[in-house]
Order: sequence, then structure tokens, then C-alpha cells
Amino acid sequence: MAVLKVRRYGDPVLRRRAVPIDAVTPELRRLVDDMTDTMYDEVGIGLAAPQVGHSVRLLVVGDEEGRGVQVLVNPVITESGGSVTAEEGCLSLPGIFADVTRAQWVKLEARDLEGRPIAITARGLRSRVFQHEIDHLDGVLFIDRLDPVTRDRIKRRIKKEGFTEDATSHRAFAL
Ligand code: NI
Repeated sequence: MAVLKVRRYGDPVLRRRAVPIDAVTPELRRLVDDMTDTMYDEVGIGLAAPQVGHSVRLLVVGDEEGRGVQVLVNPVITESGGSVTAEEGCLSLPGIFADVTRAQWVKLEARDLEGRPIAITARGLRSRVFQHEIDHLDGVLFIDRLDPVTRDRIKRRIKKEGFTEDATSHRAFAL
């Protein structure tokens, strides 16, 4: 197992639409282990494969009890509803935080590493984590979901100052 380098805003892999996974290979299992290590090392609560340079539809998310991780292969949101705004950050945009409006709840379907179907209904923070991570699989970042004025302000700031290396005070919210 290994901690992988988290790709940052500006890396083209974050803008690619990730491809579906058709077989769980030993390499894929190793990637899941490495993504889990990376997520814990970064104190994130979710990580999508493109964030570590692999353009495949795979996520790891801290489980509800905080005891382990849930692995989702080819996740798809099948239903969503409501609307809620809350602050969000991203491991690929360290030190950047902004209020993002998303669906209040989502239903999603995926497969686990054994190929078994998984169905999840998520609300609150967990719903937000899934939406944020599935966006990564489509090449979408949370700043894309901000109003244009806020988004441009953030982009200008990144261009001028780069990223804050030490964002530890806020890292628990980073996805
Ligand atoms: Ni993210």
C-alpha cells in the first residue's frame, strides 16, 4: 500500500471523463488500497480515482461509522431531490473553500469490488460527498458549481497565489 500524489487543479486528468470499469483486476484492488491510504493521509473523507491520476469510475468514501471505507465501482446517481448549500473543499484545490448548492439527498447505484450491486440512499454530508466525488468522475470540480463571480475570484486567486500548502485547519471538509 502506498500514499499517492493527489493531482491538483490544472492537471488535465481532473478534467477528463473517467471510463467505466469492466473487470476488477489485482491492479484495481491495489489502486483501491492506495487510494484508501491516500485518503487517510490527506485526512479527506472521500477520494475519486482521477484525483490520483487514474481516469476510471472508482471512488472510496469513509463509511458512516468512520471505521472503514466504502468502495464504489461505476457509481451512478439514479434519483435526487431537495437543495442545500454548505461549505465544501477539495483535496485537488487545497486551501480553497466555498459554499456549494447541491441536492439534499441522492439515491445511487454502484458495484462493490466483488461485483455485487450496491444501492445507497444518502442525506446530509454523505450525500454531498457522493455528489462531489461523482462529479470528479465526470471531470467536474466544485468551483464549476459556483456563481461565475465567485468562481472567477477563486481562479484569479489561484493564478496569483497558488495553493496554500497548509490547509490543515479545514482539511476535514476536503473531498
Ligand atoms: Ni474533490
